[in-house]
Amino acid sequence: MNKSDILNLLLLPDPEPLYQEADYCRKQNMGDDVYLRGIIEFSNICVKDCHYCGIRSSNTDVKPYRIPDNEIIETCQKMVVWGYTSVVLQSGEDPFYTTEKLTHLIKTIKATTPLAITLSVGERNEATYRAWKEAGMDRYLLRFETSNPKLFQESHPDDDLTNRLECLEILRRMGVQVGSGFLIGLPNETLEQLAEDILFCTQLDLDMIGIGPFIAHPNTPFSSQSNPFSPDIFYKTIAILRLINPRAHIPATTAFDAIDPKGRNRVLQRGANVFMPNATPMAYREHYQLYPGKPCISESSDDCAGCVKGRLKRLGRTIGNDAGHSLKNPLR
Ligand code: SAM
Ligand code: SF4
Ligand code: FES
Repeated sequence: MNKSDILNLLLLPDPEPLYQEADYCRKQNMGDDVYLRGIIEFSNICVKDCHYCGIRSSNTDVKPYRIPDNEIIETCQKMVVWGYTSVVLQSGEDPFYTTEKLTHLIKTIKATTPLAITLSVGERNEATYRAWKEAGMDRYLLRFETSNPKLFQESHPDDDLTNRLECLEILRRMGVQVGSGFLIGLPNETLEQLAEDILFCTQLDLDMIGIGPFIAHPNTPFSSQSNPFSPDIFYKTIAILRLINPRAHIPATTAFDAIDPKGRNRVLQRGANVFMPNATPMAYREHYQLYPGKPCISESSDDCAGCVKGRLKRLGRTIGNDAGHSLKNPLR
């Protein structure tokens, strides 16, 4: 598909045939298994100030926390019982977590559980990524957020797009499975730009494509910005991504449930094959509010484990019992 094909699909008045085609494509290429990757939001402390994010450093209304290592490891052990096969360790860009500290954590999780490990802790240097890879990190998740350098600059006072893309390239070269993606509907984004972001994911040949709608957080510079697109555009974006990346893992990300309580279910029926249940211990959840309406804040990790199984059963899907590694490049 080229840009104008994508624009035509984004403008389709009746999206149902597109959704059905994407669901069929997912079934043919990825099967009915949904991989469960439990996410632990282990620190909400961030030195950066991204204009959209509820835990940005300038939002002093956030109560800071760091989850002690033993609690993270206990949670990982519970994940195995819940049937999850990967853990995603996510945080703000928190300098407390040095290369050595996370190396130690990765090694301990690897020594005590069979879980695959994804890290999502922002931009770091090559030596750090290498140390984590050698310790057992399987995957890394770092969204490019937008492929437009100007829009990127307008929402990231501390970063530049070139550096972020360089991080993704470094990770790919060292054989880490790479996940990236974008925010749908950042302020000033056009439908044309959205088409470009979709194409950019394919260009990056990602192992995993994670996208989600931008949702304005009240304590951020983007508080008064509404998303320029409708939910149909969000879902069409998932469907198109599936059609042009048949073998990529695509998660039903949490933000879809914030715009519609059935959002993640719909995404699973429109191309997605991964679910990332919240596994952050309950006491911390309310302090990791990236955007308003984030689901699962007052539920426990046990509740989410039960909920996700019910959802998948009702959708006629099965739970993947292997690690769900990249199908695109067996070397990674
Ligand atoms: N600090 C790391 C980073 O930025 O890559 C990982 C944590 S960050 C909170 C994870 C993701 O949250 C970001 O990639 C961003 O797309 C998403 N996010 C932050 N604020 C959001 C908002 N207001 N609406 C939707 N998604 C948001
Ligand atoms: Fe920090 Fe990530 Fe939020 Fe940016 S998106 S402020 S890097 S936690
Ligand atoms: Fe958390 Fe449904 S996934 S309560």
